[in-house]
Amino acid sequence: MAIILSGTALTSDLATIRDGSAGIDVFRAAVERVGLHLAAETSKHLPSIEVDVVTPLETTSCAVIDGSIILVSILRAGLGLLSPFLMFLPMASVGFIGLKRNELSLEPAEYYRKLPASDKNTSFIVIDPMLATGGSLLATLALLKSVPHRRILAACLIAAPEGVARIEAEHPDVLLVSAALDRQLSTIGYILPGLGDAGDRLFGTV
Ligand code: PRP
Ligand code: URA
Repeated sequence: MAIILSGTALTSDLATIRDGSAGIDVFRAAVERVGLHLAAETSKHLPSIEVDVVTPLETTSCAVIDGSIILVSILRAGLGLLSPFLMFLPMASVGFIGLKRNELSLEPAEYYRKLPASDKNTSFIVIDPMLATGGSLLATLALLKSVPHRRILAACLIAAPEGVARIEAEHPDVLLVSAALDRQLSTIGYILPGLGDAGDRLFGTV
């Protein structure tokens, strides 16, 4: 299932992010603000449990997050969303998976992996700005499904219909939250209209 966010503050920041002439500082700041929207929405879908809390006046029942949370940042570009997610979920552990798409085959190649230990009450949240062919997220989901977990969620800035369709078909249990759903993939696997190469724009490479 996929949730596509809406709202004028969000789409204003998306306009900034899409603007190819935006400076790196402006781009990063807008990515972080959209990351806050993504973190807020994604957090709504974490498992919860009712606990008693004693206020200065009485005891009341409050819903709190149940189980541990592991954010999984897909290197490199996932680093751009880590700070806003940690702002919302400061208790989360963080795992990293380094994936680089082959420019011709568009298949992801893994070059790094470091995941905290999980258990049957762990919720994983995968963060990566771009969902294009879906290859990088599919590889990540296959890995996370091989370790103990309770729920897997994924958040991105911009998704292509092709990538969303693959995730929904192969992982209907995974909740995907995206700030935008774009038109299509280009012939070389870039999202249109998109924002270009998220890693290059975040880190100043070409
Ligand atoms: C980008 C992006 C995703 C991937 C999406 O990373 O951050 O991880 O492409 O494409 P897909 O859905 O077709 O797999 P990239 O491989 O360019 O690496 P980078 O983050 O180091 O720039
Ligand atoms: N990765 C990016 O950074 N941008 C795209 O448009 C597609 C994949």
